Amino acid sequence: MNGKVYLVGAGPGDPELLTVRALRLLETADVVLHDDLVPDAIVALASKRALVTSVGKRCGRPRITQAGIHALMIDSSRRGLMVVRLKSGDPMVFGRAAEELNALREAAIEVEVVPGVSAMFAAAAAMQVPMTDRRTASKLILIAGQHAADKSAPPPLWSGTLPEDATLAIYMPGRDFAALARELRSAGVAGDVAVVAVSKAATPEQRVDGVRLSELETLQAGAAPLLVLVGRAMDCVLAGQGEHLIEELSAAAEGLHG
Ligand SMILES: C[S@@+](CC[C@H](N)C(=O)[O-])C[C@H]1O[C@@H](n2cnc3c(N)ncnc32)[C@H](O)[C@@H]1O
Repeated sequence: MNGKVYLVGAGPGDPELLTVRALRLLETADVVLHDDLVPDAIVALASKRALVTSVGKRCGRPRITQAGIHALMIDSSRRGLMVVRLKSGDPMVFGRAAEELNALREAAIEVEVVPGVSAMFAAAAAMQVPMTDRRTASKLILIAGQHAADKSAPPPLWSGTLPEDATLAIYMPGRDFAALARELRSAGVAGDVAVVAVSKAATPEQRVDGVRLSELETLQAGAAPLLVLVGRAMDCVLAGQGEHLIEELSAAAEGLHG
């Protein structure tokens, strides 16, 4: 009898942010195949009898091909084993889930997806800055800054004009902030819009740096993994969180009394 494959979100790195379901599956898995971004503290929660393998691809140099990962999942499952495919953040956000789900379906392997906390939500929670704010941002746009290696000329970050009332979350932003600034300017983003770089969100090494778009090339951001957030809703990060929280509290008090 075939086993089953679970595509599981490991969250941004803090074991406390795993879902209860993710933890239960890790504790009972026969095979765990995890990405590089999943920290040891989470991998260590896997059952002691599980076969645990890192299938990450560091610095764009694959140690194992995507087809190799599919083969590992399919073979293990056909041996009747329960496989946890552990991905950072949420498995359905920039995680090659489409390719893995297709391969499993074609092989008639049963699969279930378990969501995780995506980097953007971890960054918002850690900074205490909402991604949407009815005064400034009613849209949320998730963008991948780096594209699949088989595309010879990467398409622009965005074609056309970006909505003014949107927060952009740029995953895998790269380190060429001058090029990123040019792309954002040509998509119509104003020079005074806030750009915030969150490094290692929800880990003890988390670091937050912010500038206006007009100064983006001067940004000294922390180490990868890095998430770049752009939009008016990020203004409060530049203004200082204390000020922002006081503003929010007074608005709430006004609401209560008036
Ligand atoms: C291949 S994508 C995977 C995204 C993941 N599925 C998610 O939902 O967060 C990897 C990118 O996610 C972002 N990322 C993942 N973990 C992060 C963290 N703890 N802090 C900041 N960015 C993170 C970075 O932009 C990184 O380059």
